[in-house]
Amino acid sequence: MGNARWLTPRPEAGYSEASGQASYLPVTGQATAGTPLATGVSDEKECYSGAIRTEARRALPERVNRGRKNDNHATGGAADEVGDVNLAREIKVTVARSDSESRTSFMVERRDPMMVLDLLLAIQRQDDPSIGFRYSCRVAMCGTCTVRIDGRTVLACQTPVPIDTDEVRLDPIAGLPVVRDLIVDTAPFWQEWASVTPYLVPVEGLSEPAVIKPDSPERQTIDPALNCIGCGACYSSCGIAGSRRDFIGPAALNRAMVLIADSRDAFGAERLQAVTGTDGVDRCHYIYGCTADCPKGLDPAGAIRQLRQWRINGTP
Ligand code: SF4
Ligand code: FES
Repeated sequence: MGNARWLTPRPEAGYSEASGQASYLPVTGQATAGTPLATGVSDEKECYSGAIRTEARRALPERVNRGRKNDNHATGGAADEVGDVNLAREIKVTVARSDSESRTSFMVERRDPMMVLDLLLAIQRQDDPSIGFRYSCRVAMCGTCTVRIDGRTVLACQTPVPIDTDEVRLDPIAGLPVVRDLIVDTAPFWQEWASVTPYLVPVEGLSEPAVIKPDSPERQTIDPALNCIGCGACYSSCGIAGSRRDFIGPAALNRAMVLIADSRDAFGAERLQAVTGTDGVDRCHYIYGCTADCPKGLDPAGAIRQLRQWRINGTP
């Protein structure tokens, strides 16, 4: 039954009798700029996890009971070998749900490699179309798919499911109000971001194009901190921001540092004042969760350290 449900496309999801082609349309909306897709994908053929599951399904014996809610499921000992690792064919995924106090567990057929997002898509297709999560680009660029896996904040689209475990727990990111299941309201995060005047305020009389040489100290301060995608992983991993104490947070402070370092910007002194107030850099306890979990390899804790130095020594 689990397999049949998995294989049969729902008519309302775009199954064409004429062509016999299945087309899985988004459940809750289209992915457009500024409105990330909450759940759903647009095409079975484009889905990596769908492809590997189809392949795996052919190889699996019928007795392997997949794709159903089950808190006490056993895999029956079936396993694959990947290198020296015994790879269980199913992984138990426990997901935080917002419509009840409890979590829900699902058994998902696994392959290697398999991303955390693949787990969620499999659950959505096989078990529970109502499960709420966000994603859009699937290439670690949009920053919408951030979740916690076993407590650690990651981008679901770029984080492989660990091969040495047969059980994972997924939670929404910390420090932000939950809208549904793994979807959070990111407004507080962006409010903090806005509080540092996160855009360039050009100095008067600036001639275009203004050049910052690649080997200049200015460029070397800015470059490693530039590629923030606003995913909120640092916010969630920060012991202060993640527990929703008043704190501008690592991402916004990192952004402030980038702009203050930029000689084309005229707002450095005001911005520095804004980030050294009561909810600013002094709230940081240097736990380094932000730097450890930034999926783009940024060092927000280092940016905070730099801001503290500028407070003492003056802006560059
Ligand atoms: S600093 Fe890193 S973790 Fe924080 S929002 Fe930017 S990309 Fe995400
Ligand atoms: S889906 Fe865009 S960063 Fe993961």
